[in-house]
Amino acid sequence: MSDGGERIEVGTDQDVVRVRQLVRTVAVSVKLSLVDQTKLVTAASELARNTLVYGGGGAVEVSRVDNGRRQGIRIVFSDQGPGIADLDLALTDGYTTGGGLGLGLSGARRLVDEFDIDTAVGRGTTITVTKWCR
Ligand SMILES: Nc1ncnc2c1ncn2[C@@H]1O[C@H](COP(=O)(O)OP(=O)(O)O)[C@@H](O)[C@H]1O
Ligand SMILES: [Mg+2]
Repeated sequence: MSDGGERIEVGTDQDVVRVRQLVRTVAVSVKLSLVDQTKLVTAASELARNTLVYGGGGAVEVSRVDNGRRQGIRIVFSDQGPGIADLDLALTDGYTTGGGLGLGLSGARRLVDEFDIDTAVGRGTTITVTKWCR
């Protein structure tokens, strides 16, 4: 089950800041622990920045989810940018095509409970992450 969610269009650095703030607010509202709030905000920040920098902008949607046992947060990052040709490579620690640290995707994956990437070259990228309350 999921609520309607809230959507932020990501086209500037300021939008990435708004994503961080929204994720923090929703994380508090579902009573994620302080440590898990910080992990999720960190992951969301990295993924939203990728949406902006590599995806050429896009959207982030944050919703509360409930699987009958637990509450959690799901965040979907989507862009219609170039896509990722080699996902395994992109998920390797230290791999970057943009002169970054190359730890955004791989780090984000470790910081959440569920991590899914749907990408196609020339079409774009959609990344869905979920963190559950424990
Ligand atoms: N939304 C995206 N669209 C296209 N390529 C992406 C996207 N997100 C990540 N990538 C690719 O994956 C690489 C690794 O991303 P990441 O781990 O965040 O490292 P960094 O941002 O430091 O480059 C990027 O350099 C880029 O080539
Ligand atoms: Mg990155």
